[in-house]
Parts: sequence; structure tokens; C-alpha cells
Amino acid sequence: MKKPFDPYADYQPEDFSFTKKNKKKIEQIISLYPQGRQQSAVMPLLDLAQRQVAEEGTRAEPVYGGWISRAAMDEIAKILGMHKIKVYEVASFYSMYNISPVGKHLVQVCTTTPCWLNGSDEVIKSCKSHLGIDINETTKDGKFTLMEVECLGACVNAPMVQINDDYYEDLTPETIKEVLALLCEDMKPEIGSQKGRKASMPLTGATSLEDQAKKAGVE
Ligand code: FES
Repeated sequence: MKKPFDPYADYQPEDFSFTKKNKKKIEQIISLYPQGRQQSAVMPLLDLAQRQVAEEGTRAEPVYGGWISRAAMDEIAKILGMHKIKVYEVASFYSMYNISPVGKHLVQVCTTTPCWLNGSDEVIKSCKSHLGIDINETTKDGKFTLMEVECLGACVNAPMVQINDDYYEDLTPETIKEVLALLCEDMKPEIGSQKGRKASMPLTGATSLEDQAKKAGVE
């Protein structure tokens, strides 16, 4: 569940500016839209701001993850010639934008029906006990924020969790702990199915379209 946008919260920084490299990217992004429609770039610019903050967060002590402050939204409104409120509306509507501070690894556990039927309650319990935090909390070292979300479109490999840009699927209470432990050590866990199956094919391998599976190099 996403936290409400609080433009006056004490964690809001005074200002925000894009890096030189990202200012160049912004020019490229805006040029993709027809004349007079530059405001359509609001979504990629919000994403860029969030990724810039995430990058800065990896060098901070304690670390933090990508999120979009009010100052960043105001800067985007200025760049695109939009009313600030319109940028706030977009950022607060879509769940991929974090509008309050988060940890370096944002752990989003899907608890919609297919994931729930396949054990997402146990996955959440495991995350809580391993990280020592509750839903919508961040660990003291800034490494993890735990969040509960609705269907992320990988129901076929339920239960699953999204951590930053990656999906971890076919989870058990044990395998989610292994994923979290590796991330805590700045290591990269294998993404996708944690049971070793390829995409959403059966655990025993292809049972239909076998010729195509062979051609794709999948046994
Ligand atoms: S129900 Fe969890 S990914 Fe769809």
C-alpha cells in the first residue's frame, strides 16, 4: 500500500536538480514527443528523477532507495511548463513512483488472489521476521522497505515479489530469505523462478510445443 503524498513532511528536501548527464537525457526524452505535447514526458522524467535519487542513495550512509520529492516534482513541472499539481497527480496515482523515502531495496510482496492461494502470507511473514520490520517500514540500515502490493502480472509463477526492477517468483518462505540475504550482502540473486523453471513452463520441462522449445534452446 502506497504512502500518501505529504508535500510538507520533514523529510522533503529543499531543492532538487538533475545531474548534467540526466539533463542531456531529458532533452532526448522531450524530443520524442510532438511539438506542443512535451508534457507527455512527465512519466519518464519522474522515473529519471527516481533513478537519480536511487543512484545517489547507494553512496549515502545510511543507504536509501529511489523516491521522488516534492522539489523534484516542482523541477519537472518547471522543465515541462506544467502546473505543479498535475505532476503531483501523476506521481501519486501510479504505484511505480515512490513519493516518500524508501530503502535501497524496495520489497513489494504481491498478495492478490493467485499469490495468496500459493502462500504469499507465509512469504510476508518470512520477510517480516528476516528483516525485523512490518509492512511500510524501512530497516534501520536503510537497506530494505517492505510493502504489500496488488497483482504484478506474474500470477503464473505465484507467489512472487518485486524488488526494485526485478521479479522473484515461485517463492517459498525459505527462498525469499535467501534472496534477501544475498541482497543484504550486495550480491545479485538469480531473478525469475526460484524453483529453476524457465519462464512459466512446467517444472519438468516443456510438455507441448516441444520442437519450438528445442529451437529456443530450452530442454
Ligand atoms: S496475483 Fe500475484 S502476480 Fe498476479
